[in-house]
Amino acid sequence: MKTFYCCLSLLLIYGICHDSLAKEPPTEEELELKQHPRLVSSRDFAALDEELETRFWHDKAQSILADKLSHHKALNENRAKNIILFLGDGMSVHTIAATRAHLGDSNKQVYFEKFPYVGLSKTYAIDERTPDSASTATAYLSGVKGNYGTIGVNAEVPRRDCLAATNTSTHTQSIAQWAQEAGKWAGLVTTARVTHASPAGVYAHTAERDWEDDQTIEKHGCSAELNTDIARQLVEGSVGKDLRVILGGGRAKFRDQTKHDEEGILGERSDGRDLIEDWKNEKTERGQRGEYVWSLKGLSQLDLSKTDYLLGLFDASHCPYHGDRQRSHLEYAEPSLSDMTEAALKVLSRSEEGYFLFVESGRIDMAHHATLAHKALEDTQEFANAIELARDLTNEEDTLIVVTSDHSHTMSINGYPYRRQNIYETAPNLADDELPFTILSYANGPGFKQTYNEQIGRLDLSHVNTENVDFEFQATVPLSSETHGGEDVAVFASGPKEHLFSGNYEQSTIPALMAHAANIGPFAEDKLKN
Ligand SMILES: *[C@@H]1O[C@H](CO)[C@@H](O)[C@H](O)[C@H]1NC(C)=O
Ligand SMILES: [Zn+2]
Repeated sequence: MKTFYCCLSLLLIYGICHDSLAKEPPTEEELELKQHPRLVSSRDFAALDEELETRFWHDKAQSILADKLSHHKALNENRAKNIILFLGDGMSVHTIAATRAHLGDSNKQVYFEKFPYVGLSKTYAIDERTPDSASTATAYLSGVKGNYGTIGVNAEVPRRDCLAATNTSTHTQSIAQWAQEAGKWAGLVTTARVTHASPAGVYAHTAERDWEDDQTIEKHGCSAELNTDIARQLVEGSVGKDLRVILGGGRAKFRDQTKHDEEGILGERSDGRDLIEDWKNEKTERGQRGEYVWSLKGLSQLDLSKTDYLLGLFDASHCPYHGDRQRSHLEYAEPSLSDMTEAALKVLSRSEEGYFLFVESGRIDMAHHATLAHKALEDTQEFANAIELARDLTNEEDTLIVVTSDHSHTMSINGYPYRRQNIYETAPNLADDELPFTILSYANGPGFKQTYNEQIGRLDLSHVNTENVDFEFQATVPLSSETHGGEDVAVFASGPKEHLFSGNYEQSTIPALMAHAANIGPFAEDKLKN
């Protein structure tokens, strides 16, 4: 009771200061009504008949309960021969919930939400509350938290320090290395550049995520002799050169600035090297069949059952957003995330000892940074498609699939949208300034400029097509790139030892759980006994 009165008086004080001293404080009843206003229901809304009945909800709960009881009765204690880690970059819990609406109704399930066990991962970096994709990749791939902007090194290494990361005692080992040491194959797939922060966590050690090519290292005043750029680590490093599958974007990081690539785009290196040629030669020297492709056509013409090593770089930089890929018919030129995942599994499933595969949907994050919520949700939908395909192509008895995100974003679902309202519209209720506001909105970002004008104030969005895929959603604070969010992200698991993934834990626990399920690396059963 005490706290209730305390809160109430705080609210009242706030109300008085906020409005004006002359106004009467709102009554308790008025406050209640403001918090939960009476809503006008949508004219075209028709309830599903079944949802009106108590019986329907009890049946639904009953079937979920039965599922849970059967999972508890027979825990999947198998050993994971294969592990697939799916990473939705920047895929906050809000992003997943909004994707249900994107799929048509709040009662939809995004495919991986069906996985039997869900946990929450704490994402902070050693030096920052809100992390980036580099420090988080170190955490969920190698089990160690590092500093913001650093990859595959512990927190002894400050970001962009020219020397600290050259001491290998700072290097962390990724689960890809543990898998390789156990005789498993390893691979990576991403819609970002294969040298970008998240995939780099599989194979690289660096004080600076932007050191994807040698030129950038020199530009930052460090030595490209002392520090090996990320592209070179992918081709020459001990984990990188043994990766069986590398699929994504980022060709320019592999070629010199004077050389055009297959699509006429110049490279970004300054050391004169063609790392794609070097990659092919290294495989030939080992007597292995290494195939390099740069288009969907090239990929589809390969005999993957005879490919030992596969390198596919489908864009000079990042692959396109999934929706843009379809709208601009790049679907004939570039593979989708699902296409790449399928190709990767075809190669890796030939390994007798099993495999570790990392699959990243890298551009959910970039769409959020641009407050392009529509594209973020389209990419999340395709991410779910790739996961469904992987679950269908593998067996829950021997293949553990973990789906998570590295960090959150600031998008929220706000206002009181109708049950089946298009999520890209404005909320049915108006703001206090009698103007509409978008349901999806960001705490900060470039969308501010689309929705606010210094002279006029908030712009009237009633005649703006907010459903347009290029509409930048409303943001409270102007910022050229929207920021990440600092709250927890979800972890979904299906397969051997899936039950270990429930609860709330440090993000750096994830590789320990996966490695334990596969009995590899420092978290293998016998290692833990010693
Ligand atoms: C590398 O770091 C370790 C641990 O801090 C230290 O003992 C060692 O002297 C360092 N090596 C070099 C070459 O600086
Ligand atoms: Zn980001």
